[in-house]
Amino acid sequence: MKMSCKRCVFTLSEYTTSHGFWGSLLAGLLEPENNGFSPLNLLFSGSRRVTAGRGIVTGGRKKPFETALDIGCGSGQLTRSLSPYFNDVLGVDISPAQIGVAKTAQNPQNVSFSVGKAEDLPVADSSLDLITSASASHYFDWSMFPKEVNRVLKPNGCLAVLGFHHLYIDHPNEAIRKKLDDCVESYFDYENNVRLKDYSPIQYQHTKEGYRTLQVPFDDQKCVNVDLRYDISITDFIECTKTYAAAVQLMKDNPGTSYFTDFKHSIMSILGAEEPDVTMVKSRMPVFVRLARKPGKH
Ligand SMILES: C[S@@+](CC[C@H](N)C(=O)[O-])C[C@H]1O[C@@H](n2cnc3c(N)ncnc32)[C@H](O)[C@@H]1O
Repeated sequence: MKMSCKRCVFTLSEYTTSHGFWGSLLAGLLEPENNGFSPLNLLFSGSRRVTAGRGIVTGGRKKPFETALDIGCGSGQLTRSLSPYFNDVLGVDISPAQIGVAKTAQNPQNVSFSVGKAEDLPVADSSLDLITSASASHYFDWSMFPKEVNRVLKPNGCLAVLGFHHLYIDHPNEAIRKKLDDCVESYFDYENNVRLKDYSPIQYQHTKEGYRTLQVPFDDQKCVNVDLRYDISITDFIECTKTYAAAVQLMKDNPGTSYFTDFKHSIMSILGAEEPDVTMVKSRMPVFVRLARKPGKH
């Protein structure tokens, strides 16, 4: 098995305007000019390479690939960001409500959405150049998913599953950064935090392990770690953590919980901050990407 691991850093602000959140990361993965490093290019090497560079994004050149599928697409933010690179992009999600939200957004002409399950995809055999899935693949049934991936990808087609475990706050002072890391990890310690652990989804093990526990099909594999960094207020940082599955469940079962106020105060105390709405912090999201290429004749 060919497997390699690489770490790189993209600055989110460089891409957010045109691509949105996951799109920023994907642009980093697909654009060969970004930091001189394009993981998907590396993965596609041996088959076809992405060579059109930023010309693709500005619409000046032909799109390099035909079809992409984004599974567990939610509101479709990653799905839309695939639009400049592929002739046709489909987003599927098991939730009709999520697909309803995705369809109401301003979607490029070559992007469509449909209700569908990762384990029984509504697409033809050997029809896709790329399958993506962001923050969703740990929910899939991996006793069935790899077989389905193998069925729908073209020879040399690629699977890219992206995820993250925690959102952190960076700080130039090493001791303060360590305190912030410890604080985040203790509030989101899914095994030992007595207030949270009953609400933790079983699948958190996969994100904790950086998706290394997922049995990604095909021998030709890569694993890429990307730190996404952006400036955010303390209040917005806390709001982001409220979207985690365990947080949503905790708040649902305990509507008056002080959990997130306590978390905010702990962060403020470490930073010596008094106004969380206007105090900006440097947020860091370590994202892991598992890539795999279906074999085929080059
Ligand atoms: C955390 S959300 C991520 C949404 C989106 N990819 C994003 O990054 O914003 C996970 C999504 O996976 C979907 N999902 C969970 N299990 C699925 C399955 N077996 N097949 C398709 N979608 C699934 C959920 O409905 C949900 O919309």
